Amino acid sequence: MQLPFDGAISAYHTDLAPQELRDAIAQAGKKDIVDTGYPHAERMGRKAYEAQYDALQIELVKLQAWAKESGARIAIVFEGRDAAGKGGTIKRFRENLNARGARVVALSKPTEREQGQWYFQRYIKHLPTSGEIVFFDRSWYNRGVVEKVFGFCTDEQREHFFTQVNDFEKMLEDEGIILVKFWLNVGRAEQLRRFLSRESDPLKQWKLSWIDVEGLKKWDDYTAAIGETLTRSDSAPAPWTVIRSDDKRRARLAAIRHVLSQIDYDRKDTAAIGAQDDKICGGIDIWNA
Ligand code: ADP
Ligand code: AMP
Ligand code: MLT
Repeated sequence: MQLPFDGAISAYHTDLAPQELRDAIAQAGKKDIVDTGYPHAERMGRKAYEAQYDALQIELVKLQAWAKESGARIAIVFEGRDAAGKGGTIKRFRENLNARGARVVALSKPTEREQGQWYFQRYIKHLPTSGEIVFFDRSWYNRGVVEKVFGFCTDEQREHFFTQVNDFEKMLEDEGIILVKFWLNVGRAEQLRRFLSRESDPLKQWKLSWIDVEGLKKWDDYTAAIGETLTRSDSAPAPWTVIRSDDKRRARLAAIRHVLSQIDYDRKDTAAIGAQDDKICGGIDIWNA
């Protein structure tokens, strides 16, 4: 079904998206990965995905049971460009979890009151209590990336953020909070493909924001801001985990697998977790512009 859509946004797409990307997307089959440099030519098939996914879901349920029993506190940060797959990955983590104890935190832009507070303050309020897993759909890293690209903060505020972020995360570790930081890395063609699909799907249109559309002009600004942010905030107590997310299925499996492999929960079944795809999931060295 095709619903009428705000003409301004359609026009943005037509004008701003590079022609060679649009051609590549038009020529690609549904299974084809468009971005060159991605380590697989095709998306993962549904059968292979579902077999691994189901096994991982059982492990996630064990993880939550362990967290409730032991009082562990787990915070998982999801960052990435627009349409990188943050919300969809979080949804797959939570599919079989008790929602009470597996919260999503997706904050909107800061209110005037919040703007007057310490930058980390509104996020601290949402950190997990004992037994909880909290999923941050975007986080304090807005200051490193989107706020820089759109000029929502001054350069001084951003520098100040960088002087504090590693200490802030070290305090979380010292406090015993398990912190996992994901950077979902989406290629330029795949991002555009997802924007176009949001534009034409009435169920996805809400996901397409002014920021997404304006961001089409700002790919390189994003690249610079992301590279700097990853480098400056990749610390021993709180390293980044980069996941190449052009194929959503491989990305979701890799993210869940990574969290499970980081934590020693009861009745852990290492065979069920399976081996990580090191070309899909790694440190900041596998991030690419
Ligand atoms: P999302 O991709 O999370 O659905 P958007 O693409 O609209 O949402 O916005 C990206 C991020 O930029 C969000 O976290 C939003 O809160 C933030 N943002 C938007 N406007 C501002 C602003 N004026 N100041 C600070 N942050 C903002
Ligand atoms: P999406 O990125 O989820 O909007 O998917 C775009 C199109 O590609 C849809 O028609 C999906 O059915 C198809 N698709 C997405 N992932 C896969 C996959 N792993 N294998 C085959 N087709 C896929
Ligand atoms: C995503 O899909 O990456 C986010 O949840 C939504 C967005 O940033 O566009």
